Amino acid sequence: MPTDTPATAFPGLILGIESSCDETGVALVRAEAVGVPRLEAHALHSQIEMHQAYGGVVPELASRDHIRRVLPLTRQVLAEAGRRLEEIDVVAYTRGPGLAGALLVGSGVACALAAALDRPVIGVHHLEGHLLSPFLSADPPEFPFVALLVSGGHTQLMRVDGVGCYQILGETIDDAAGEAFDKSAKLMGLGYPGGPALSRLAEHGDPQAFRLPRPLLHSGDLDFSFAGLKTAVLTQARKLGDALEDRKADLAASTQAAIVEVLLKKSMTALRQTGLRRLVVAGGVGANRQLRTQLDAACRQARVRVHYPELHLCTDNGAMIAMAAAMRLQARPASAGTLYSFDVRPRWPLDSLERPEP
Ligand code: KG4
Ligand code: ZN
Repeated sequence: MPTDTPATAFPGLILGIESSCDETGVALVRAEAVGVPRLEAHALHSQIEMHQAYGGVVPELASRDHIRRVLPLTRQVLAEAGRRLEEIDVVAYTRGPGLAGALLVGSGVACALAAALDRPVIGVHHLEGHLLSPFLSADPPEFPFVALLVSGGHTQLMRVDGVGCYQILGETIDDAAGEAFDKSAKLMGLGYPGGPALSRLAEHGDPQAFRLPRPLLHSGDLDFSFAGLKTAVLTQARKLGDALEDRKADLAASTQAAIVEVLLKKSMTALRQTGLRRLVVAGGVGANRQLRTQLDAACRQARVRVHYPELHLCTDNGAMIAMAAAMRLQARPASAGTLYSFDVRPRWPLDSLERPEP
């Protein structure tokens, strides 16, 4: 990020804008020079209903809807926090990864607002937002920790030693965990995004009804693979034919059990291998109740502390973007700049992020 501006003064008020996919999120976070920054207000508009008719996200529609939502949501958070626009010290936006057109809306608005207010901007990595979102909870973690990042597009295990110190220990070689939920749900006719629907249905089913594969469970490394699972679910669904309707809850429960078992076992292996005693779970799939229940039990037994984002902050939101910006600025106040170049990075590996040296 450009550093052509005086360092951000603390305490500071940070506006965060998220628009990487199908949720427009805006939030205000207040940060002191040290200590965990505090969320003042956040607002979200989900486009899920709009995309449902198409069975998935339509990028062009997503961009157009972000345009409609971002300023009203900004007014809403300012009103909720009792703040004026001029009180904003830094504007943060999601720079990537995500849909290029959608990202351009958030970055364009962020840069325009910052230029008009004569304030610096900071482009935030979406996954860093997810990763640091548990710091918004009542029980924030402390570095270092192992992070299980499970979203619709990513599945990674990481060693996290501080802001920007992200070492990838393992990741998916094909589909993400959220994708496995979504694709399996889709072929069971549960709509989009199917993760939450599949897990609700699974509560009424038998997780051992169908023996589905646990890909790479015994691979000895920390990588994941979920593409084969989706094929196995499809094969099972075809085999059931007309009986699928009656056995859907069992198939959902068995699918969820396969995904959760792999995520659980690999997370515990990562903790053992690193010797770390703290696990942070982040990303949309982190909202999954079975995953939480099983991780809680395994971590209790292994005497490991486990942290999650608040349930409503597991999926995409502006609070995590404002929070990640706040923590980056605390680590290096000159991380924000005034070049307003609003460049986006639709593809952006998390471990290429720099550690912000003060
Ligand atoms: O983190 P996120 O909002 O978006 C990305 O950055 O990708 O994650 C969305 C993913 C979707 O695949 C959705 O189906 C999944 O998270 N998800 C869930 C649950 N809630 C959201 N998967 C399983 N169980 C849930 N309760
Ligand atoms: Zn996300």
